[in-house]
Amino acid sequence: MEYKFDLEKNEVLLKEFKAFLSEIKKNNGALMPALQKAQELFNYLPKEVLKLISDELNIPLAEIYGVATFYSQFSFIPKGENQINVCLGTACYVKGAQSILEEFEKELGIKQGETTSDLKFSIGQARCLGDCSKAPVVMINSDIFPLVKKKDVKKILDNYR
Ligand code: FES
Repeated sequence: MEYKFDLEKNEVLLKEFKAFLSEIKKNNGALMPALQKAQELFNYLPKEVLKLISDELNIPLAEIYGVATFYSQFSFIPKGENQINVCLGTACYVKGAQSILEEFEKELGIKQGETTSDLKFSIGQARCLGDCSKAPVVMINSDIFPLVKKKDVKKILDNYR
């Protein structure tokens, strides 16, 4: 899936990032700090930012992708405005959490670990949200939804659309 990086909205962060790059560009091994800083500032590695790193540090883009894909701390997918975490801990799992997760995936047209192209929603999973007696449990941002049924999913999402 292709995500549009909003250059205008990120203008201030890009300025800060460019200043950081010119500070470190003379150092050996500047690539890792550059990638870490980009991840920290933008929450993922947009291709526009990787191209900027390539131009500023004089490192081929392919080499940058090679390094960035090797380390799990880097992500190529932005986080959505709303983070959905479906609990797949034991109590929730036995109460059908997997089918709840699949319903969210179906409803949003993305898989777990992905973000919708309008950057509205990301789907993830949790390993126990500490409310096992109300399984299956879903958390969206900091809101907890207990005893979720498949038929509730659309209604829950409508609160955030
Ligand atoms: S296993 Fe889901 S809340 Fe504990």
